[in-house]
Amino acid sequence: MTKTFTPEALIRTENFIGGRWLPAADGARFAVTDPADGALIAEVADSHAADARAATDAAAAALPAWRDTLPKERAEILRRWHALILANQDALGALISREQGKPLSEGRGEVAYGASYVAWFAEEATRIYGDLIPQQHRSKRMSAVKEPIGIVAAITPWNFPLAMIARKIAPALAAGCTVVAKPAEDTPLTASALVLLAQEAGVPPGVLNLITASRQRGVEAVADWLDDSRVRKITFTGSTAVGKHLARESAGTLKKLSLELGGNAPFIVFDDADLDAAVNGLIAAKFRNGGQTCVCPNRVYVQSGVYERFATLLADRVRDMAVGPAREANTQIGPMINARAVDKIERHVDDALAHGARVVTGGKRLPELGPNFYAPTVLADANSSMQLCGEETFGPVVPLFRFENEREAVDAANATPYGLASYFYTNDMKRIERVSRALEAGLVGVNEGALASEAAPFGGVKESGYGREGSKYGLDDYLSIKYVCQGGLA
Ligand code: SIN
Repeated sequence: MTKTFTPEALIRTENFIGGRWLPAADGARFAVTDPADGALIAEVADSHAADARAATDAAAAALPAWRDTLPKERAEILRRWHALILANQDALGALISREQGKPLSEGRGEVAYGASYVAWFAEEATRIYGDLIPQQHRSKRMSAVKEPIGIVAAITPWNFPLAMIARKIAPALAAGCTVVAKPAEDTPLTASALVLLAQEAGVPPGVLNLITASRQRGVEAVADWLDDSRVRKITFTGSTAVGKHLARESAGTLKKLSLELGGNAPFIVFDDADLDAAVNGLIAAKFRNGGQTCVCPNRVYVQSGVYERFATLLADRVRDMAVGPAREANTQIGPMINARAVDKIERHVDDALAHGARVVTGGKRLPELGPNFYAPTVLADANSSMQLCGEETFGPVVPLFRFENEREAVDAANATPYGLASYFYTNDMKRIERVSRALEAGLVGVNEGALASEAAPFGGVKESGYGREGSKYGLDDYLSIKYVCQGGLA
């Protein structure tokens, strides 16, 4: 029977290196707190370069045996891990909600979402085909063989503390790579719990290693991986600024990179759209995780003929949203992750108001709930001079921009260095074809607000990064192709 844990029993406060739970080399620790009220949840290992190096040593020692396992053996371990994650869905979901602040239902949902990548890559492990190249010479046989790239460093964000690390570790293990990982400093407990379940599933010692670290010491720990030529790949989800830093600093050892970076997603509502469907799609996409998602619509463009009606329909729904601590069953919007996050939201809203925006609903902090709460907000009369047009707000704020025609909407949507998600609502079939081609984004939602799936390629263009996660393409980033030419055959 698959083992189950309580949320408390899932908590690990040490690093996991070479199959053992170990304190940081110098014994340092840092506090993990509940974003709703700042209460201490646990103190965990605060790792440093020495711990990062120890993790790489363990991953290097484990690599030869792991890359030689049969794909079906790796698939079996991943299937056991998947079963353990699902058997512990409630406990993991509660832990996610506690340290990250998303509502309980979303915490449980994230567990299922993350687990779906583990199941997917368990299957993909057994489908890593190469090619026998059509014969070019009578005496030679030429083939292309796919091999694991080597040690992978996975650096993961706080907004999906389970799903993002699962969708990096699962393909790495499936491909035959070993892993060193560092979760965000705000949410290390979920990642450690996931690793505990991987240990339980039979991932051999050294194949998966995890270190936790505070913001400053984490930078130093990661620097050790960037310099270490044994680490062959970096996979990162987070800000574009950090992605660029990783690309620059890893250039010395020419690592392969997958970077899932910031977005500034446009959401376009044309006059001919089904407005109820558009409101539903916007609510689903925008308010997931309180707006703290890279694919959240950040700029909502509404055609002038339906602008006022759309604003009213949307505000009527947003006004009724329940804001509160994640642990309360009816909560729809939890706290923001930390003080920096709320400060940024407030700065964006203040700046928008100073540049002519109008509050339709919300537009303020909710100090009666705690320091990190912000009201779900709709702003009308947004324009391109506002800070919220140029950078992700990463919070529950919907700015409504007005447009007159399709060309204007597409140009405005593309007028950003970012290109992760984009959305549009229309009932015109020809426009669907035109606009989906014209949008500069890795993901396009057409009359749909919920895009993510383990079966679909997830990733951006432009400064939203490169590489794809999930889907039949998701293993490619963890493999290299070797050409083998066998001569003397004739
Ligand atoms: C992200 O916010 O980086 C990921 C969102 C998703 O997987 O849908």
